[in-house]
Amino acid sequence: MTSTLTRTVRVGILGFGTVGSGAYRMLQDNRDAILRRVGVPFEVTKIGIRDTAKPRQLPAEMFTTDLTSIVDDPAIEVVLELIGGVDPAAELVERALRNGKHVVTANKELIAKHGARLISLAKSKGLDLHYEAAVGGGIPLVQPLKHQLAGNDVLKMMGILNGTTNYILTKMQREGADFADVLAEAQAKGYAEADPTNDVDGFDTMYKISVLASIAFHKHLPVEGVYREGIRGVSLLDMQYADALGYTIKFLAIVDAIAEDTILARVHPTLIPKTHPLASVNDVYNALYLHGDFVGDLMFSGRGAGSDPTASAVVGDLLDVGRNIAGGGSGSAIPFDEEPLKTCPIDDLRTAFYLRLVVQDRPKVLGIIATEFGEHDVSLAAMEMKTLDESRGEIVFLTHPCLEKNFRELLVGLKQSGVVEEVCSSIRVVS
Ligand SMILES: NC(=O)c1ccc[n+]([C@@H]2O[C@H](COP(=O)([O-])OP(=O)(O)OC[C@H]3O[C@@H](n4cnc5c(N)ncnc54)[C@H](OP(=O)(O)O)[C@@H]3O)[C@@H](O)[C@H]2O)c1
Repeated sequence: MTSTLTRTVRVGILGFGTVGSGAYRMLQDNRDAILRRVGVPFEVTKIGIRDTAKPRQLPAEMFTTDLTSIVDDPAIEVVLELIGGVDPAAELVERALRNGKHVVTANKELIAKHGARLISLAKSKGLDLHYEAAVGGGIPLVQPLKHQLAGNDVLKMMGILNGTTNYILTKMQREGADFADVLAEAQAKGYAEADPTNDVDGFDTMYKISVLASIAFHKHLPVEGVYREGIRGVSLLDMQYADALGYTIKFLAIVDAIAEDTILARVHPTLIPKTHPLASVNDVYNALYLHGDFVGDLMFSGRGAGSDPTASAVVGDLLDVGRNIAGGGSGSAIPFDEEPLKTCPIDDLRTAFYLRLVVQDRPKVLGIIATEFGEHDVSLAAMEMKTLDESRGEIVFLTHPCLEKNFRELLVGLKQSGVVEEVCSSIRVVS
């Protein structure tokens, strides 16, 4: 039975963009249901923004450009940090915690870079610091990893964690369009930022996998420990070859447990069999697939971004804070140590590769290439050849799993072999 808190919990929101306005709307639209279910009346008393000239649907006196005044306001018990980035978010969140306020944030970069320190600070003050919306938008990932799955040894995680890049790759695949054209269209429709670096070069995915792996492996994964390669190099031709070979190309974050406290974390385009559950996660949808020693294989999927799904996660966290306030809870448990995880370099990875070459079309070429493969301890699983013109051919290889370092050296050897005109692309493959 829910007991109703007799006083109102006052909330300050930093940021009133896609997520901030969505969270506000959800709190208003579902106010009665939330009170009935959680027994806590919430009231947003102040909202921090940057630009006073933007039209807003609320009275002007709700807004301030002085965000410090919100985190210093003694009447506010909970701060929702929804501005994004590190500066000034880190300083504001720290100040809110030092002032005894619970914090809910959707900020992956903040948690990836400063989470361990801020979570310790929250814990030391008996406060909640929640960040469910930071990864996977509306998909519950943080809480299940922190709680229901915490007894497992997680052995592998693979995620599609960025909606923009999944939308781009899905569109290339479905419509036979080039990367540049799909990116331009996504920008025109507002699905991709004018500067798409954060998404297409994998920074956003890197922050998110840092947050998830830190929880799953119980120690902080610094972003510097994540190998990162974006999707700018993925061509339509590679998608078509991959398709013919039974694969689809997805932009994955992958973490493998290597030994106690040691992982290998990477973000890159990946060939994945069409039969794998992640292969059918399309458009802006996100998913996390993991294998735990007791739970086995598990997949979460849903809307990884957008105003409503992200608001759902932010408000869910706020309700948790409300329950703690009402029930006299003592703040969130620390899900991971500040001490960093040990990470293996990408050179140590054992993986299969897809490789596309343009070669001279003359006798003995295949023999020379096969010798290079053998000398670098890389063996072949499949091969396709096509004549391009009277002097050149295109060859696509799938290798068996090999050491990344050996494969890199093989590419150097192929370039120097005198028969390879161009190493067009190489993409890691998961089975
Ligand atoms: N968008 C999504 O679908 C999504 C999904 C998951 C997580 N997130 C995370 O949620 C957070 C917010 O994202 P968003 O998409 O809502 O961003 P957004 O639409 O760009 O909104 C940002 C808001 O913060 C305000 N702001 C930014 N910097 C400020 C500063 N220095 N001082 C005062 N106000 C400032 C902006 O003020 P003005 O309104 O005056 O410009 C705006 O209201 C980010 O951490 C993001 O990574 C977003």
